[in-house]
Amino acid sequence: MSGTRRPVVLLTGASGEIGHSLITKLAEDGSRPILTLDLKPLPRDLARLVEREYIGSILERNLLERILSEFEIDLVFHLAALLSTRGEFTPVTAHQVNVEGMLNLLEFAQSERQSHGRPVKFLYPSSIAAYGMPDLAAKAKAGRVKEDDYLQPTTMYGCNKLYTEHLGRYYARHYKQLSADPLGGRVDFRCVRFPGLISAFTVPSGGTSDYAPEMLHHAAQGKPYACFVREDARIPFMAMPDGVEALLRLAAAPQESLSRVVYNVGAFAPTAGEIRELVLKSFPKAEITFAPDLKRQGIVDSWPGDVDDSAARADWGYAPRFGLEAAFGDYLIPNIRKAYVGGSSEEEMVGTS
Ligand code: SER
Repeated sequence: MSGTRRPVVLLTGASGEIGHSLITKLAEDGSRPILTLDLKPLPRDLARLVEREYIGSILERNLLERILSEFEIDLVFHLAALLSTRGEFTPVTAHQVNVEGMLNLLEFAQSERQSHGRPVKFLYPSSIAAYGMPDLAAKAKAGRVKEDDYLQPTTMYGCNKLYTEHLGRYYARHYKQLSADPLGGRVDFRCVRFPGLISAFTVPSGGTSDYAPEMLHHAAQGKPYACFVREDARIPFMAMPDGVEALLRLAAAPQESLSRVVYNVGAFAPTAGEIRELVLKSFPKAEITFAPDLKRQGIVDSWPGDVDDSAARADWGYAPRFGLEAAFGDYLIPNIRKAYVGGSSEEEMVGTS
């Protein structure tokens, strides 16, 4: 057996946008060695922060069994997913990655618990895609949507996320409930429903909230951008550091303070036109036009205009650092200027999924 038997943390989808920021944070904290699993290799500066980098798929059960035999994992961030736009082109693959992959990881966590005896915390990013607003009038009227309302997703990705939230709750509370020795409670499943995430250091791929980060990253590179949603399209967004902080804070919360397994988290909810105005403030020569793709627009219209995250605030102290102006002024613009002036091209920036 080659690995250590110290408790370690596993990140799936580690090469994606959230993974990038989370690895850096976990490495700064230093309390657990980091294992990563992704189809794509990590960039060198991140690879040196991790104890072991597995290149492979969450669908490879043999690989998961190998990891299980080599390490004692007591914390999992299951980030691997195929996002909402890509999922509409390959719905069966989306289901395999998002649902069967999740099932594999939950079974993996259950087995880890059985092998080392300590509960495994399982942190899972779900999405505003789990919601489905019936029409624009209802969306405007609903305002900040609560976790249990409007759960009729229209995308494969949204259906996958909603179902896998339930799977996580099942493993946490009801797993094999008819067996003589009930096995529920061994996976400590905790989930946040993220809004669109915007990072200064990576660009997303395959999502439908991608117009906001794309607008910004194009402007920073002096490239024209035709936004694929209407100027008045509105969904919630969050700066990446707040997303990572939310996952870490939820992971650290005492179980008894959690009244739910799935929590909304929000930060700001601008229209695409308002995002354009903010980008133009910093990049006045940016060419940003609107050329709505009616089908992708339809997906954005089905997502809530904002979310009610009062449960996260009350239960585990969720408090985003960045409102809209601060996200741009203090985080996105300064870092993005440095990144592109430093010579990175968009090709070198990393996409999710
Ligand atoms: N960013 C995701 C997407 O656009 C939503 O969670 O698919």
